[in-house]
Amino acid sequence: MNDLDALQRDALAAIEAAEHLDDLDEVRVRFTGKRSDLTAIQKGMRDLEPEERKARGQALNAFREAFQAAFDARYEQLQGAALRERLEAERLDLTLPPRRVPPGRPHLLTQVEQEMLDVFIGMGFRVAEGPEAESGSYNFDLLNIEPDHPARQEMDTIYVDGFDDVVLRTHTSPVQSRVMTTSEPPIAVVCPGRTYRADAVDATHSPVFSQIEGLYVAEDVHMAHLRGTLLAFARAMFGADREIRLRPSFFPFTEPSAEVDVSFDGPGGNHGWLEILGAGMVDPNVLTFCGIDPDRYSGFAFGIGIERVAMLRHQVRDIRELFEADARFLARF
Ligand code: PHE
Repeated sequence: MNDLDALQRDALAAIEAAEHLDDLDEVRVRFTGKRSDLTAIQKGMRDLEPEERKARGQALNAFREAFQAAFDARYEQLQGAALRERLEAERLDLTLPPRRVPPGRPHLLTQVEQEMLDVFIGMGFRVAEGPEAESGSYNFDLLNIEPDHPARQEMDTIYVDGFDDVVLRTHTSPVQSRVMTTSEPPIAVVCPGRTYRADAVDATHSPVFSQIEGLYVAEDVHMAHLRGTLLAFARAMFGADREIRLRPSFFPFTEPSAEVDVSFDGPGGNHGWLEILGAGMVDPNVLTFCGIDPDRYSGFAFGIGIERVAMLRHQVRDIRELFEADARFLARF
């Protein structure tokens, strides 16, 4: 019996000494596995006398019970410890301040475009859009710009290769033609979008720029409606004390036409006027081309450069800053 007592002492001591669940498993294999002393003792049983075998059997059972009880107790302890260790390792410190991710924001041009549209939407205009690759018919013909009209050269048109009569629109006015050919007065739309001209890049020119076109066609629309609309716009965008001034000008699609300036008060008593847009009364030819009766209806139209408004509003000296995406510039707005 002494061998079993000794075995039990060793086994319980090994269980007690196990520090991880892995060690404990190893102890189980060592003391109860196929190649263990226990298995050898069990095998030796068949050679014993019945009397002896019975006593030996009881002793073996006692060993197994003692082993199992010690094993289970240790298992529970070690498992609890393993769980605590894992929870400790995966612990989240909810009191740590979060890392700051700077929020993005719309580009200055988008912000200014939205502000401008808001002003016109507030007056009752709705937004209409058209394609940037446009037919010469909408961009020129329906707008009273004949094929050999100098305006076609002046606008330095970019033609689209491989297509008959497709241009990158030189202004947002073709959206006027589109709206007028597909709807009945009263019409009140503003049309924002990109426009293209084959201009060399410098501080005030870019081959890609953007405009907002405005169009109002109804009965009895006259020049004072145009002036009032543009004055309200200028005051909303630049300040309640602003004035506007209309200078005679020429556009093939408006008659009469005007260049519109907004007043400014600079530093040191420096007063002056800055040109912000082109406008006029829709030429009766344009109404006719677009299927609207010029004897019944009249209208006004205007086209505003968004870059120009953004530059005036925010003292941007060079138009290239609006397209270069320099983070230091963008972060100012
Ligand atoms: N389309 C003109 C331009 O781009 C601007 C304009 C629009 C003028 C509407 C009058 C009326 O220069």
